[in-house]
Amino acid sequence: MLSHPLSVSNLLSVSALSRSDIMQLVGSADHYKRVVCNFGGCDDLKGSVMTSLFYEPSTRTSCSFKAAMLRLGGSVLDVDLNSCSIKKGESFQDTVQTLSSYSDCIVMRHPQRHSVHQAAKYSNIPVINAGDGIGEHPSQALLDLYTIYTELGIERPLKIGLVGDLKHGRTVHSLIQCLTKVNNKIIFYLISPETLKLPTEYINDYAHFVESELEDCISDLDVLYVTRIQKERFDIVEEYDAVKDSYIIDQSLMRLAKTQMIVMHPLPRLDEIAKEIDQDPRAAYFRQMKYGMYMRMAILSKFMMKIRFTH
Ligand code: NCD
Repeated sequence: MLSHPLSVSNLLSVSALSRSDIMQLVGSADHYKRVVCNFGGCDDLKGSVMTSLFYEPSTRTSCSFKAAMLRLGGSVLDVDLNSCSIKKGESFQDTVQTLSSYSDCIVMRHPQRHSVHQAAKYSNIPVINAGDGIGEHPSQALLDLYTIYTELGIERPLKIGLVGDLKHGRTVHSLIQCLTKVNNKIIFYLISPETLKLPTEYINDYAHFVESELEDCISDLDVLYVTRIQKERFDIVEEYDAVKDSYIIDQSLMRLAKTQMIVMHPLPRLDEIAKEIDQDPRAAYFRQMKYGMYMRMAILSKFMMKIRFTH
């Protein structure tokens, strides 16, 4: 497959990606989807090693990055935080420097916003942000965009409802930036409790942003993007308890939605989407999870092939 270099060497924020970078990654994810369906995998990253460094829990992001690397013919160095020298008090800088001398790319998740930018300073191999606190989650945004591209098309006018914890939800923060880079015909309906509103820094001039109630806008939506209320980001548990059950997507609500609408969720879900919705063909969240591996194959091959030429 023809490969053009990306305009950046780390994936820290979607803001650094150009429209052309994003569309290249989409094309590449499509390519890897075909490769996996037809052959199970390939040797594009044979001999390369990806470090997986997760300071916060993860199922989908960590496993899909690892699966992506294995399907590209590469290997994975999995850092176990409970048995490595971080436990002895080793600094973040020394840990990152060490890992960057053993592998070709670090995929990192950390509870502190901007920690990935620090890591990139200490690393001489690409760093991929797999979620930095309440900051960003660029690979999730790219797979979310790829889901919309695959299921609905990405260049048409879109009405997207963003539901839940828009304050702490890093997937939403990155998704808005990612989508508005490729499409300037989007209306975002912001649906959240008063205390969990989208921070203004994520509102931009490339889309319309409308605060709404779920029942008022659901019949207009093309995409309903649901998020979990992020319990771990609250200092006071009573504040979490007050908002935790703010939204529940169930059959009675889905009856109001278009037949072509899709329901997305980065997962894990708690109670915000009723299990009964899983059978509805509009429930795209498990398909979205699958698209994630193809997009992460595209991300790894783009960012790591670059380093292999410049080592
Ligand atoms: C999200 C995350 O970690 O930000 N999950 C994920 O990566 N698929 C969303 C969440 O934890 O609620």
